[in-house]
Amino acid sequence: MIDQVTVDKVLETANSQIIEVVSDYVTLRRRGINYLGNCPFHNEKTPSFTVSPHKGIFKCFGCGEGGNALNFVMKHDQLSFVDAIRALGKKFNIEVAEEEYSPEQQKQRNERESMMVISEYAGKFFGKNLTDTDEGKSVGLSYFRSRGFRDDIIEKFQLGYSPEQRDAFTKNALKQGYKIEYLEKTGLTIVRDNYQADRFRGRVMFPIHSLAGKVIAFGGRILKNDKKTAKYLNSPESDIYHKSRVLYGIFHAKQEVTRQDRCYLVEGYTDVLSFHQAGISNVVASSGTALTSDQIRLIARFTKNITIIYDGDPAGLKASLRGIDLVLAEGMNVKILLLPDGEDPDTFAKERNEEQLKQYIEAHQQDFIKFKTSLLLADAQNDPIKKAQLIQDIVRSISIIPDTITRSVYVKECSTLLKVDERVLMQETGKLQKKKQEEDFRRNTPRPSNGPPDMPPPEIFNQPSSGPSAPSASPSPGITVNPLELEEREILRFLVKFGELPLNPDEEEKVSVGQYILHELKQDDLMSTNPLYNQMMEAYDAVSENTSTPALKFFVNNSNPDLSRLASDLIGKEHDLSRIHHKFGVVTNVEELLPTLVPKIVMELKWKKVKIVVKEKRQQLQQIEMAGGDMEALLEHMKEVNTWQQVLTHISKELGGRTIV
Ligand code: CTP
Ligand code: MN
Repeated sequence: MIDQVTVDKVLETANSQIIEVVSDYVTLRRRGINYLGNCPFHNEKTPSFTVSPHKGIFKCFGCGEGGNALNFVMKHDQLSFVDAIRALGKKFNIEVAEEEYSPEQQKQRNERESMMVISEYAGKFFGKNLTDTDEGKSVGLSYFRSRGFRDDIIEKFQLGYSPEQRDAFTKNALKQGYKIEYLEKTGLTIVRDNYQADRFRGRVMFPIHSLAGKVIAFGGRILKNDKKTAKYLNSPESDIYHKSRVLYGIFHAKQEVTRQDRCYLVEGYTDVLSFHQAGISNVVASSGTALTSDQIRLIARFTKNITIIYDGDPAGLKASLRGIDLVLAEGMNVKILLLPDGEDPDTFAKERNEEQLKQYIEAHQQDFIKFKTSLLLADAQNDPIKKAQLIQDIVRSISIIPDTITRSVYVKECSTLLKVDERVLMQETGKLQKKKQEEDFRRNTPRPSNGPPDMPPPEIFNQPSSGPSAPSASPSPGITVNPLELEEREILRFLVKFGELPLNPDEEEKVSVGQYILHELKQDDLMSTNPLYNQMMEAYDAVSENTSTPALKFFVNNSNPDLSRLASDLIGKEHDLSRIHHKFGVVTNVEELLPTLVPKIVMELKWKKVKIVVKEKRQQLQQIEMAGGDMEALLEHMKEVNTWQQVLTHISKELGGRTIV
């Protein structure tokens, strides 16, 4: 752990010099009090990427990305929180103390470190062999060239060659002082009682890089088409190489995946190389196996959009459809690109230039669910049993999608494709979802945390927790949004902008905007259903009594990256704030208005909340009536509705007479 004092210091320094931080990556021009440039997070021709040196934040009005200097570096270089603090510390000459490890951890760290060093060395060895030795040149290099790979691609991916001699690499490494223990642990050397031999011999070598670009394993391909030997030989699992968590090419792809907001997924090493050679670098390979959740989450750190490129025959394709549900479950938008018969991404890319390849993909990629529906429908058209199975199958895929809105869009489209009533599909997905929720609940275990550690939490919009809501109340069941979203964000915006300012400047015992808001919300049990919003309020509550730091500084410099992002998101949209001011006519000084404005927005939240409660209570009342419940319960309930209605009227009056529907 880096101590908090250092974290704060780095954050403050970096945010106060955010122009300098961002300028390392983006050319900025001054525009009034802000700076403007082309957004590095999406493709744009007219600049909409703004940096505010005074606030210490950036905001892109094109793609919505925003945050402080730390958020910028984390996102741009895809670094974890700790690594980003280190990088910024280095930039501003602030010493960031190393973490402390227990002896056991230290030993493990050293071991992994040694294995990395050896892998790096092996990569160099194979690379040199390819280009600087007679055997390498005549066998390895000529192989790559005969397949049409350019030298810059060979260099970029550090391709290599392992000599035929059975211990060429091992001997060389030992001579350089590398320990046999780590040669064996990385799988580069096979150690027996009476001999030590190289794992890879007479093969062209594909180093596999970690996300950070370190060599952690190898794939080696034989050169002859020998049916008896496996075409590729790979490094075994080790402490530094977990096959299920690695994607070939991710290091060379990540920046472009972010920029294009899409990742292409292919099968093999050479597919990745050929795409790069054609000028498309947002591509990774699963290395011939089914995708794992960890691999999907790795991609999800950079984009939610994935296009899976298939070269299989239709039969193989059908078999792998099920596997794609896993990708949907991670909330990814999946497209499928089918290549013409007999082509794989490697051969296909080699026959085309960048423009042609891009155009083909653009024109032929299809949405996965629609693709699957039409593919299966072709078989089932005149067979009712098959068709029933097909519906079940599609419904299962749809029910797996975490996002409710996306789900309902699919229900609509598939109902047309399948010629099945939308409500039937909706009902079926609902059933499966409920089943899944129950299962999840029973298991009651949090998601495995062995995935990438610093994924941002998804924006969460929940329904209010108040009482059961009647079915059929909303026209599109399944869509859940936070009905208080607007009001809650408005309040948070005031908290961030004016939290420390006094609400009653003339009185003796001062109450700040932040204290007032928190007191009001807590007292009436109005905390948000969005955990991040609550976190924001709680965080301020914890410090507001004994800090002199302005709320804006506190949030923008907050060491919780989620909070600093939310803060800059809130204040990035100043025009929303002005909306409220207009209700008061022309406004000169917002601060003078705080004593009226702040209670008003809190009151608006209360009004909305109570309105929802009243509506729910009325619906319940109706249900009780229809069910013919007993008189006493009915009266009791009516009384309750009346009380709530009175509260609503009262609030309306306070708000200056609002029409009650
Ligand atoms: N693979 C493997 N071991 C094998 C065969 C395949 O690990 N014995 C993996 C490799 O990562 C390979 C991918 O599966 O890149 C796809 O296999 P395949 O399509 O057979 O190979 P290609 O990538 O097409 O390789 P090449 O173009 O060199 O024939
Ligand atoms: Mn191939």
